Amino acid sequence: MSDRPVALVTGASGGIGLELARCAAADGHDLVLVARRADALEAAAGELASRYRVAAQTIVEDLEDPAAVGRIGARLERPVDVLVNNAGFGIWRAFGATDPAAIDGMVAVNVAALTSLARAHLPGMVERGRGGILNVASVAGFLSGPNAAVYYATKNYVVALSEGLAEEVRGTGVTVTALCPGPVETGFQERAGMHETSMKSMAMMDARTCAEAGWRGFRAGRVLVVPGAGNKALVKVPRFVPRRLMARMVAGVQRPDA
Ligand SMILES: NC(=O)c1ccc[n+]([C@@H]2O[C@H](COP(=O)([O-])OP(=O)(O)OC[C@H]3O[C@@H](n4cnc5c(N)ncnc54)[C@H](OP(=O)(O)O)[C@@H]3O)[C@@H](O)[C@H]2O)c1
Repeated sequence: MSDRPVALVTGASGGIGLELARCAAADGHDLVLVARRADALEAAAGELASRYRVAAQTIVEDLEDPAAVGRIGARLERPVDVLVNNAGFGIWRAFGATDPAAIDGMVAVNVAALTSLARAHLPGMVERGRGGILNVASVAGFLSGPNAAVYYATKNYVVALSEGLAEEVRGTGVTVTALCPGPVETGFQERAGMHETSMKSMAMMDARTCAEAGWRGFRAGRVLVVPGAGNKALVKVPRFVPRRLMARMVAGVQRPDA
């Protein structure tokens, strides 16, 4: 059995998660890759394992299922040193027009599964005095988002949880980071149902650049990582603008589907 540290990455079948898994592998971590699409996950594991000469286990799970985190734990062969809580999705639609089950699913993945995974693995990291958690939040975590209100609220939760846990474990050798990207070109926009006149038309970062910034910040022990100068400026705006006005400004770029 290898003595490399183990990184568990959720949502590693594509997008930012696949690139974060690449960063972890390039940095000498064995991988545990979690997502629903078995084929994409296997392809990712095969490519990363052979390119970076690390071990890569795949676990196919739907994180909307509250029992998934327990099943993942049961399949782990070694303790997790780095937890990358990346799996997540958004819905760009007026609240009242959104399928209630889809809202529940988003909260289950973006909030509940992320929290359960952190609870399952953080105490062991603290006991061993090393490792950490990289949670993928968003610039949405600093704003309220009319017409994507639940998504923005889930990301506010991720930022607050990350900051709280980071302080709680300070000095233990363990770190907690929230990566807060702006728009990144992945499958996210299509799944969220964004249309051309909304955020989809904004400048996008590529997933690798975003992941590399996140991994660097995580390895440096930073609590918040906001990649890109424009995004860094954006997350500071709420300090100077009243919250109601801020929500109205966001509504301007977040028109619901016609
Ligand atoms: N792209 C952006 O503009 C952007 C901006 C800020 C933050 N983010 C955040 O970045 C993270 C990654 O998103 P992305 O942009 O890379 O989007 P993506 O390409 O759609 O990837 C999402 C990943 O999450 C996994 N996932 C989704 N639902 C899941 C479920 N129920 N169970 C298990 N895995 C699930 C997907 O895998 P399967 O489909 O195989 O299950 C996929 O690997 C998300 O948390 C998102 O909120 C994205």
